[in-house]
Amino acid sequence: MISTPRLVLRRFTREDAPAVQRLAGAPEVALNTLLIPHPYPDGEAERWISTHDEAFQRGDMTFAITTAEDQGLVGAIGLHSKPDHDRAEIGYWIGLPFWGKGFATEAASAVLRHAFETLSLHRIYAMHFTRNPASGRVLQKIGMRHEGSLRHHLKKFGEYIDVEVYGIVRDDWSG
Ligand SMILES: CC(C)(COP(=O)(O)OP(=O)(O)OC[C@H]1O[C@@H](n2cnc3c(N)ncnc32)[C@H](O)[C@@H]1OP(=O)(O)O)[C@@H](O)C(=O)NCCC(=O)NCCS
Repeated sequence: MISTPRLVLRRFTREDAPAVQRLAGAPEVALNTLLIPHPYPDGEAERWISTHDEAFQRGDMTFAITTAEDQGLVGAIGLHSKPDHDRAEIGYWIGLPFWGKGFATEAASAVLRHAFETLSLHRIYAMHFTRNPASGRVLQKIGMRHEGSLRHHLKKFGEYIDVEVYGIVRDDWSG
């Protein structure tokens, strides 16, 4: 569990499935994420949550982003590690009703700190669709540097997608 002033990041449980389906089911959330389908099928949230325990063993951690106030689900954030390289990729989504409140920045900042200070990783990076500059802002605000662009790197809903790569290495981490 990771706490920030306004948020608690914790493991998902089956009870979160209806909220995941409701929030991740918004087309605005699916559009700029690689792995969220649209329409969001019944049972998908339960299936996704059921993969988390095994994934955690491999260093693939997914946290529910919840409000410290009432533990309501706001979104999700993942840290996907490659232990051989002491590096991990951050990915996240925030439910549409909660956009623009700084929650992605607050969650990503806390996960970055966890990666460097608790997991002792060396490099953390993230990629966002070029058409989604809000995510680029989040990565800038947590101290990541723009490292490059990858043209047509991904395919989503049948369309080739340009992505931006952001990263930070331990030498640049000031806490
Ligand atoms: C991208 C996303 C995570 C941002 O979450 P959020 O909680 O609203 O983010 P924050 O409030 O912490 O910060 C957003 C920043 O982007 C800025 N922003 C918003 N829309 C923008 C736009 N169209 N262009 C540029 N910046 C934009 C905001 O002004 C804010 O920056 P500021 O603090 O300097 O003003 C959220 O919109 C989301 O989940 N989208 C769908 C899924 C997704 O894109 N996931 C990321 C995949 S890489």
